[in-house]
Amino acid sequence: MRILIIHGPSLNLLGTREPDVYGHRTLPEIDELLRAYGRARDIEIATCQTNHEGTIIDLIHASPEQKVSAIVINPGAYTHTSMAIADAIRAVPTPVVEVHLSNIFARGPERARSVTASACRGIVSGFGYESYMIGIDAAARMARPARAKRSRPAKKSSRRRTKKSDPDR
Ligand code: DQA
Repeated sequence: MRILIIHGPSLNLLGTREPDVYGHRTLPEIDELLRAYGRARDIEIATCQTNHEGTIIDLIHASPEQKVSAIVINPGAYTHTSMAIADAIRAVPTPVVEVHLSNIFARGPERARSVTASACRGIVSGFGYESYMIGIDAAARMARPARAKRSRPAKKSSRRRTKKSDPDR
């Protein structure tokens, strides 16, 4: 299983950026902890950081062809503004889990709303760098459900099947 971690804007400055809010660990230190966390669980962890909204969108779009099983994303400040990232997440089948170092719901009204979270499977917020680890656990469960569905024997039918959810019908 391959999980892609996407760190959004200004997370490259972790360690020196508001350490009272985001902690003292640098991004390379956190990434190394996440890779070790993955290794212990037989999960390949790929990490990337970008300050650019379009690059985040490109990474999300490329996830199926890159054989990414699930994405853990910290969209940084784009969390609160980016309909474009939310749309990109909705556009791919890859399960996405949103994470935040800080508890965005305890930091005032301007951060309490996540535009991107509604497109994600769920959100982990407020556990420092361990939010990513909890996010990896959740993403792995989404990519590889805990219980596999039992396959039912196919019903014999001469009628053509139609897709119920096809909006063009
Ligand atoms: C953050 C929270 C955001 O509000 C902020 O803009 C960030 C970091 C977090 O990890 O706590 O850049 O996503």
